[in-house]
Amino acid sequence: MASERKTRQWETDLDGIQKLRFAESIVRLPASDEILVKVAAVSLNYKDAEIINGLFKHHKSMVAVPNLVPCSDSCGQVVAVGDAVTKWKVGDRILSVSYPTYLTGPQHPKYLRTSIGSANHGCLTEYRTFKETAVVACPSYLTNEEACNMQVAGTTAWMAINGMRPLGQPGGKGETILLQGTGGVSIMGLLIGKASGAETILTSSSDEKLQRGKDLGADHLINYRKTPNWDEEVLRLTSGKGADIIFENGGALTTPKSFNCVAFGGLINAIGYVSGKIDPPDERLNINVSALSRNMTIKGLINGPRDRFQEMLDFCAKHEIRPVVDKTFPFEQAREALQYMWDGAHFGKVVINVAQ
Ligand SMILES: NC(=O)c1ccc[n+]([C@@H]2O[C@H](COP(=O)([O-])OP(=O)(O)OC[C@H]3O[C@@H](n4cnc5c(N)ncnc54)[C@H](OP(=O)(O)O)[C@@H]3O)[C@@H](O)[C@H]2O)c1
Repeated sequence: MASERKTRQWETDLDGIQKLRFAESIVRLPASDEILVKVAAVSLNYKDAEIINGLFKHHKSMVAVPNLVPCSDSCGQVVAVGDAVTKWKVGDRILSVSYPTYLTGPQHPKYLRTSIGSANHGCLTEYRTFKETAVVACPSYLTNEEACNMQVAGTTAWMAINGMRPLGQPGGKGETILLQGTGGVSIMGLLIGKASGAETILTSSSDEKLQRGKDLGADHLINYRKTPNWDEEVLRLTSGKGADIIFENGGALTTPKSFNCVAFGGLINAIGYVSGKIDPPDERLNINVSALSRNMTIKGLINGPRDRFQEMLDFCAKHEIRPVVDKTFPFEQAREALQYMWDGAHFGKVVINVAQ
């Protein structure tokens, strides 16, 4: 067992990125069923900035603890283990699980309440204890800075493609996937989608980012600024059929268009809301008519369980899929890193290197 040690960590009162503060805390020794981890790298998600900015209010069961340590997705190394721990040993590389008690099956508010970096303390710290069940093995082919992106971005992308299929029976071959934007979830969806044999349509506000998407294998590119009626372009590209699976990342301004260009019998994954959470009055749509006229499914998606996370990791290892890291910041520059992501200039993921 380790002796008592200190950890430097970032804390927030949910009052803005610029008010994040650097603090020092005593690391709790691992209980018998826990491990102590030295955090190596932390991946930033849109929700992390949203939480810190006090804007993450749509999950009523996720109420943050005081002085919240933000961020859910980390990669690290085990430095001590509790007496009853059987799965891990000192030196193992692990990935934290963002919803630590969500192990299998459908999502539930009780799992949301145990989420880290949102309801409970997260990973933007040098050392942290985890239940031994709250981590998975880090794939050996990935660097720490790559691996820490697999949780939220990777699992959400995996569930958007495979969440409606049984565990162990992933699909996507021959299907058309529409990926909105070039952020973390979308680019993981592009990589997984291509490896699954799907045809991919990528949208972005930037031609330069679209070119990067093309270099990663995107089959079709749409600049949604230059082509505001991108739904019509999706229909044109698919000879009128539409997209089988849509990563609906935009929310208020994009959902009506997604209903226009989803394939008959297709799936819209309600993932995000980067274009806004509230429908402007002139954009209201009749969901019943929209859904039944295409005989389609709209599925609210909140990440996925640990078994699907592992399924995704195994698939990515088989295909040697590496998350795209746009930029890495030192631990001391967490504010700059979060602001950089929040401003939306990135392509793929933004990472904080905790252990330099
Ligand atoms: N439900 C879940 O489990 C889950 C999991 C992860 C994320 N999310 C949500 O999904 C969304 C994306 O997350 P992320 O982590 O991938 O975010 P991110 O890395 O910050 O990416 C956001 C990207 O969205 C694109 N975008 C902005 N406005 C857009 C618009 N009007 N139409 C289409 N695309 C637009 C931009 O791409 P361009 O710069 O290329 O235009 C931007 O880079 C967020 O709302 C997040 O909260 C949900």
